Amino acid sequence: MDGHIPRLTLIFILLALSGFILLISNITSLEDLNQLTSTFYKIQSSIHSSFKSPEILWPLEVNHTYCAHFGQEPTAEEAKEQRDLLSSTAWPGPLVQGLPVELSSDPAKSYFVIQGPAEQYIGGQLVVHVHVQNFLGLPKKHGGDFLIARLHSPELGAGVAGKVHDHHDGNYTVLFPLLWTGVAWVEITMVHPSEAVVVLKRLQEEQPDRVFFKSRFRSGAISETTVCNLCLPLNEKPLCNYTDPETGEPWYCYKPKKLGCSTRIDHSKGGYEKNLITKYEAQFFRSGVNIKVPIPASAMDHVTVLPAENGQAKVKSIYNAAGYYFHDTWRPLNGAVIWRFNDSSAITHCLKGKIVYMHGDSTVRQWFEYLTALVPNLKQLNLYSPKNSGPFMAVDSRNNILVRYRCHGPPIRFSSVLSSELHYVANELDRIQGGPHTVVLVSVWSHFSTFPIEVYVRRLRHIRRAVMRLLDREPATLVVIRTANLQQLNSESSLFNSDWFSLQRDVVLRAMFRGLRVQLLDAWEMTLAHHLPHDIHPPRAIIRNMMDMILSRICPVGKI
Ligand SMILES: *[C@@H]1O[C@H](CO)[C@@H](O)[C@H](O)[C@H]1NC(C)=O
Ligand SMILES: *[C@@H]1O[C@H](CO)[C@@H](O)[C@H](O)[C@H]1NC(C)=O
Ligand SMILES: *[C@@H]1O[C@H](CO)[C@@H](O)[C@H](O)[C@H]1NC(C)=O
Ligand SMILES: *[C@@H]1O[C@H](CO)[C@@H](O)[C@H](O)[C@H]1NC(C)=O
Ligand SMILES: *[C@@H]1O[C@H](CO)[C@@H](O)[C@H](O)[C@H]1NC(C)=O
Repeated sequence: MDGHIPRLTLIFILLALSGFILLISNITSLEDLNQLTSTFYKIQSSIHSSFKSPEILWPLEVNHTYCAHFGQEPTAEEAKEQRDLLSSTAWPGPLVQGLPVELSSDPAKSYFVIQGPAEQYIGGQLVVHVHVQNFLGLPKKHGGDFLIARLHSPELGAGVAGKVHDHHDGNYTVLFPLLWTGVAWVEITMVHPSEAVVVLKRLQEEQPDRVFFKSRFRSGAISETTVCNLCLPLNEKPLCNYTDPETGEPWYCYKPKKLGCSTRIDHSKGGYEKNLITKYEAQFFRSGVNIKVPIPASAMDHVTVLPAENGQAKVKSIYNAAGYYFHDTWRPLNGAVIWRFNDSSAITHCLKGKIVYMHGDSTVRQWFEYLTALVPNLKQLNLYSPKNSGPFMAVDSRNNILVRYRCHGPPIRFSSVLSSELHYVANELDRIQGGPHTVVLVSVWSHFSTFPIEVYVRRLRHIRRAVMRLLDREPATLVVIRTANLQQLNSESSLFNSDWFSLQRDVVLRAMFRGLRVQLLDAWEMTLAHHLPHDIHPPRAIIRNMMDMILSRICPVGKI
């Protein structure tokens, strides 16, 4: 499509802008796609738009879905659930693509307005309106920008996540519960403009193999390496089919030239594809411009929260946060009491007689590392496992404590996992006895970010079935499932690991485990509410709060 419209120099921008601005109100208020398109063509020909990389408008459509129909056949109920999940993760956005970047959402030109007085009462709810505008400073007329929000008091070590509601018209409402007294500051961040989310959606459906994997094969002196993935093109080159016989989860590698498929010895991340997006699309992913950039306040950016007065009608917050930080300590709002396990003897006392299984990605491995670092009696055995990927095992034989970590099955982007250790979480759970001495901690999210959502739904469905079987045979087993967390993003990592991908998976995970006897550990809110920068591996201060929650659940009040 490039070259269709003559590229003019930047000198024409000013000329073009004046004409353009007159027409903006028309463009943005038109509902009808055809009318919009023809209007845009008229603009383009009449003012010879000289915006960078002008492209012809094209309707939003992506090609569906690659490799999503494997695994055990969903029951009718599960198939309906999948349809509901897909519709619940539907994301609004622009009607068309290809508009000049100047019309895309600009966090710096957007603003928020705190509603109500500068002094509000604890127990109430703070309402903030966000007005998203484009680079020309004009209001956006559609939704789909990915915003996150936090209310915090730095000197109190206090913070809580806000709930963002998209009105689909360029305006957003953010709700915060008022949970402590003092001066509290509002922080609204645009993670991505809606125009960037469109690109992420396209990548998710059309480039699910943008992270690629490889395996080594070895027999005697011969060794070969080939590329692997969840799906590989059929009928091109011979494939090795490593589909899991129990769950039906697919996995393929190109067959080595000399060796057979049974000579596979390991699995590792191959790399990240380059040149995934056009120059035009890249304009929506600029660090410091439109990736995780704060939206300023139009005026007041903080409120003073006062203690509840007698007779003051309490406005109940309609949004229930999972918890909040106070003195840098997480306080869940579900009534659970959190004990501080800040020394090794308290942890040992709590874990006495327990077997703790940790299954999943590196974010659950962080808990293994935390415990073995903090509790000297918990001795990690040398299993000769590759660094970082495990499996790992730590034992305190005097107190009969066993802690194990094992990574989830492919897709997993670790540097090297032995083929013999590529196990699926669902199959592992089926092999656990369970019972009051057993704790199962699961975290499966990050390595699915590049695949269509159906692939994740299918994986969780297998894990959920195994969890239900486990709880069915041993109801006293404690199962904790960790949600996704926010991470640091730049123009490149956004295409693979964006928080938008994580949020979509987070929504699915919460929905799929709702109502089951498993504990959800809300890593999303715990990283959003905290003052430390977002990191795929949350810093120790957050890990400590997570472990305190888990240990408090293992050893509830009065039992320690
Ligand atoms: C806006 O659209 C209306 C109807 O389509 C048209 O009459 C009017 O001239 C347009 N305004 C501008 C500034 O182009
Ligand atoms: C979808 O796939 C078809 C056939 O593979 C292709 O012709 C079409 O251009 C694709 N559409 C998009 C939006 O990529
Ligand atoms: C969005 O908010 C602005 C500022 O309050 C207001 O003028 C505008 O009417 C709102 N837009 C819609 C579609 O409600
Ligand atoms: C791979 O094996 C599975 C299970 O045996 C089978 O269902 C699937 O069709 C095979 N894939 C291909 C491409 O032959
Ligand atoms: C653990 O916490 C208690 C109370 O919060 C404190 O008194 C104690 O010094 C802490 N111990 C360590 C080892 O940090």
